[in-house]
Amino acid sequence: MSVILEGQHITKQYKTESGDGTLTVLDNTSISIEEGSVSTVVGVSGSGKSTLLHILGGLDHPNSGTVLWRDNSIYDMDRQSLAHFRNTNLGFVFQFHHLLPEFTALENIMMPALINGDSSEKAGERAKYLLNEFGIPDRAEHRPTQLSGGEQQRVAMARALMNSPDLILADEPTGNLDEENTDIILDYLYNLRDIENVSILLITHEKGIAQRSDNVYQLSKGKLEAL
Ligand SMILES: Nc1ncnc2c1ncn2[C@@H]1O[C@H](COP(=O)(O)OP(=O)(O)O)[C@@H](O)[C@H]1O
Ligand SMILES: [Mg+2]
Repeated sequence: MSVILEGQHITKQYKTESGDGTLTVLDNTSISIEEGSVSTVVGVSGSGKSTLLHILGGLDHPNSGTVLWRDNSIYDMDRQSLAHFRNTNLGFVFQFHHLLPEFTALENIMMPALINGDSSEKAGERAKYLLNEFGIPDRAEHRPTQLSGGEQQRVAMARALMNSPDLILADEPTGNLDEENTDIILDYLYNLRDIENVSILLITHEKGIAQRSDNVYQLSKGKLEAL
């Protein structure tokens, strides 16, 4: 198995409110993500999970350490290259769906492809395919407020898959859902992993979610430990 993403010796510190101290959220910690795998990071609220996901996903620089994408250091890229890298190789799913309220489900899903310069015809075709794969072909013309929470997250996942990324980074994707919808979302995620040949990094405070994943890590006191 080849490693697609690797965080090496990542340290992240924030200035504390009063400004005279530092909070070390990630403390010289490392993680490797293998191609085709589902990895889960569990940790209590405030343990630094979102910080880790942002750093691994090219959204926030670490204070020290390196993030390698297929052996290339992502924070050595300039801003524009890094943005292009993210939009091409990674798909993000967050706890709150962040769908654009004035656009339909289909248009929201198409957006990353349109940003990448694909034709609306090509983007529309793939978006319809993904809506179908997520079991909601009849929701194409609905706006986000007209969808249930579970449907909103399915649309958000379809959008994350739009540009056929190699890795999905999902930060508490089921954090707002009931148990039934959580199971549905996870089923889709695992199915899509196989159909779309995508690796997944799931970040969650709910330990039960980790059961089906290939690798589980616990984040505590700034360190990742394999469970
Ligand atoms: N931009 C920031 N500035 C200062 N402190 C932050 C910032 N982002 C997060 N933190 C702090 O870092 C810690 C980890 O936050 P976070 O990564 O969001 O944890 P989690 O996602 O596990 O709940 C928390 O104590 C949080 O208050
Ligand atoms: Mg978080």
